[in-house]
Order: sequence, then C-alpha cells, then structure tokens
Amino acid sequence: MAFPTETVYGLGADAFNAKAAAKIFEIKRRPSFDPLIVHIAKADQLFFLAEHVPQEVKKLINTFWPGPLTLVLKKRKEVPDIVTGGLPTVAVRMPDCEIASMLIKKTGTPIAAPSANRFSRISPVRAEHVKAQLGNGPDLIIDGGKTKHGLESTIVSFEKGKFFLLRAGAISPEEIREKTGIKLCKTSTGKVSAPGQLKKHYAPKAKLIIVKNEKMAPELSAAYIAFRKKPSKKYRAVLTLSPSGDLREAAANLFDFFHNLENKKIRLIYIEKVPSRGLGLAINDRIKRAAA
Ligand code: TXA
Ligand code: MG
Repeated sequence: MAFPTETVYGLGADAFNAKAAAKIFEIKRRPSFDPLIVHIAKADQLFFLAEHVPQEVKKLINTFWPGPLTLVLKKRKEVPDIVTGGLPTVAVRMPDCEIASMLIKKTGTPIAAPSANRFSRISPVRAEHVKAQLGNGPDLIIDGGKTKHGLESTIVSFEKGKFFLLRAGAISPEEIREKTGIKLCKTSTGKVSAPGQLKKHYAPKAKLIIVKNEKMAPELSAAYIAFRKKPSKKYRAVLTLSPSGDLREAAANLFDFFHNLENKKIRLIYIEKVPSRGLGLAINDRIKRAAA
C-alpha cells in the first residue's frame, strides 16, 4: 500500500512480515541489498525494532520526532533480513504526518517503507506520481495531497560515540547542531552515503544538465529550472524553485517539477544548483544524482 508522509510517499508493508516486505522490492524493482526505513507512530514501538537506544540518540529522538529524521540502530533479531538488506542495523523514523501515523496506529505494527517510486527514479510527492510510476502495483494508494517537505528524511547513524550523516535530507546538519549541539561527521569515505544511495538516483527520464546560468543553456526546446531568477530566453518551460530564495520552498518544489516536466514529455532539462547551506546540501545532492 502507498501512503503519504511529510517527506515523500512511501510504499509500505508490515515490518515483521518478510513476505509482504518482499513484495515491495518486487513492485519497485528494487535490488534486495537496498534496505527499507521502518516507520513508527509511538516511541515504544522502537523497542520492538532496536536492540538498544543509546542515551545520545534519545536526544535526537526527543528533539526531532515526529519528523523527517531517520536513525540507524542495532536491530533486534525479530526484524526480518529482507527489511534491513541483511545488515545488523535497522533504520527507523516517526513520520510527522497525520495519515501516516493513523495508518501505523490502526494496523498496530511498524511499517517498512521505501519511497513509492521505481528503483532509481524520482520520489513521489503526490499520489498521482505514485500511480504514474507504479500503476496497479500497490493494492491501495492513499491520497494525502502534496507532501510538506518534498524531499526524503535525513539519515543519521551512531557508532562508537559519533554521529554520521548517511543521507542529507529534510533536516539540515545546521538545524541538528543548533537544536541539540550534535555535530554530524561524514562517513569514513568522506561522502554522504547509505546503502542504496547510488550515484544515479532520483532520475527523471529527461536528460538533466546542471548549469550556472542561461549562458550555459543554448537549447530552447529544453526546460529550464532556475533557483530564484527566471532566465530571459524563451525555453519550452521555465520553472523557478523559489523566487524568494527560500530553500524550504525549493526543496518542496524540486521533485514536483521533475514529475511535472515528465508529464510534458520534456527531453532535456537545464537546472541551476542552489546555495549549499542548510537544506541546500540535500537539494544539491538530489540534483547531482538526478544528473549522473
Ligand atoms: O523520507 C523518507 O525517508 C522516505 C519516506 C517514505 O519515509 N523513505 C525513503 O526511503 O526515502 P528510501 O527509498 O530512500 O529507502 C531507504 C534508504 C535506503 O536506500 C538506505 O539508503 C537507507 O534508507 N537505509 C535503510 N536502512 C538502512 C540501514 N540499516 N543502514 C543504513 N542506511 C539504511
Ligand atoms: Mg527512495
């Protein structure tokens, strides 16, 4: 079943039902090494999933849950391997979305769910996007309108006393530091990376070219996605991520614009990067992967 969250739509199944979880991989055509995020609605559900919740991690939970922060913790053996891609850890978050939390409460079980898109394609931020990519794959799609953040959750792990940023997302490292004093480290490779975060990801069907400005964008049959200021040339379509330069607005628009241009059958998209502060880190990460 597909359902909305405050980030993107998820394709969910009972996290303790390996057969149901396997169906998610089938519908998404997702490789099985790519683990799922388990969604909970009440803090005590965490204890059915995680072996142990370190005191330091509780600080993040108290500050950001419910909300778009996913925590990677040592898993309990009851969590099926298919959910965690065979890893000894499980990724958990508590969505800040009425429909999602009601669904979890009514079913009475944590729900394992990746984004409700085909593998390596753009994450859906409206029910129509799920339908367009997955068709009749899910037995049900709950329509909750456009999601609030339009960008996936931030993924953080805690190992040997340190927090690592595995995926930039809807909560910026700056916000985490301001509210908790916690400074996130990059992973040992120096890159933001979680399994399944392949170089090519979030890709629209059109060819995507990153440009600094319209001087680098000669083809007028293309679409142009600007950060703030519209280009002067007459492209086939022109979209502005945020005229006021608000990164929250830009994040909420990015995937929605990709889907929108896909509907228009646009073959080439020029796109400007955004300033890399705050949410800009996650937005630019998605733009780079979509263009890879
Ligand atoms: O906002 C979100 O996080 C959305 C909504 C539906 O909650 N979900 C989402 O899931 O974006 P998705 O499709 O990105 O897949 C989950 C990703 C995996 O690709 C992997 O990068 C990371 O979460 N992940 C899951 N379990 C992990 C683990 N044990 N260790 C490290 N990363 C993990
Ligand atoms: Mg995804």
